[in-house]
Amino acid sequence: MSTTSAELQLEKISRFIGGIMRGRDPDLADHLQRLDAKTAEFGRYIGLSETESSLLGIGGGIHDIGKLCINEQVLNKPSRLTSAEFFFIKQHPMAGYQLLAPLELDTRVTDCVLHHHENFDGSGYPHGLAGENIPLFARIVRIWDSYDAITMNRPYHKGRSSEEALAILEKDKALYDPALLDSFTSMMRLSPSI
Ligand SMILES: [Fe+2]
Repeated sequence: MSTTSAELQLEKISRFIGGIMRGRDPDLADHLQRLDAKTAEFGRYIGLSETESSLLGIGGGIHDIGKLCINEQVLNKPSRLTSAEFFFIKQHPMAGYQLLAPLELDTRVTDCVLHHHENFDGSGYPHGLAGENIPLFARIVRIWDSYDAITMNRPYHKGRSSEEALAILEKDKALYDPALLDSFTSMMRLSPSI
């Protein structure tokens, strides 16, 4: 498989963003790095082309770039957020999208940044999109983002096991694309390695 110069350029941008995120928050950078690798692997698992899978990985790897624009104390607050703090955190998808706008990246990548907190039942943000109105790549990142947040260790949160995380996703299944959640569950049962 040959890599086009556009793909190479995107990979460089992604690595550059990864370096900035690591300087700001190593745990968040690790989360993004895992999503980069795992969403690309998932793309291949569900039969996307190699190009689409690597674009998906890049979207997964930079989806939270907008957190650079959010106050660090609010972002990492261990206790319950006030409604004003939650309002600020909810700005990060749009902030990231605007940050990337001058680069004119492939929209499938920027969809991951703008729409990764949209819920399948329409209850998410920033636009309250529902069902297949949410771009495919963003629906995929939505699932991996939740799973990784549940399983990762943070100073104030001990990571749960893969099986526990799958049970939590199943309980909240209204938030996720059902067909993608099925594929995700079967992939994780084959290799719960993340
Ligand atoms: Fe996010």
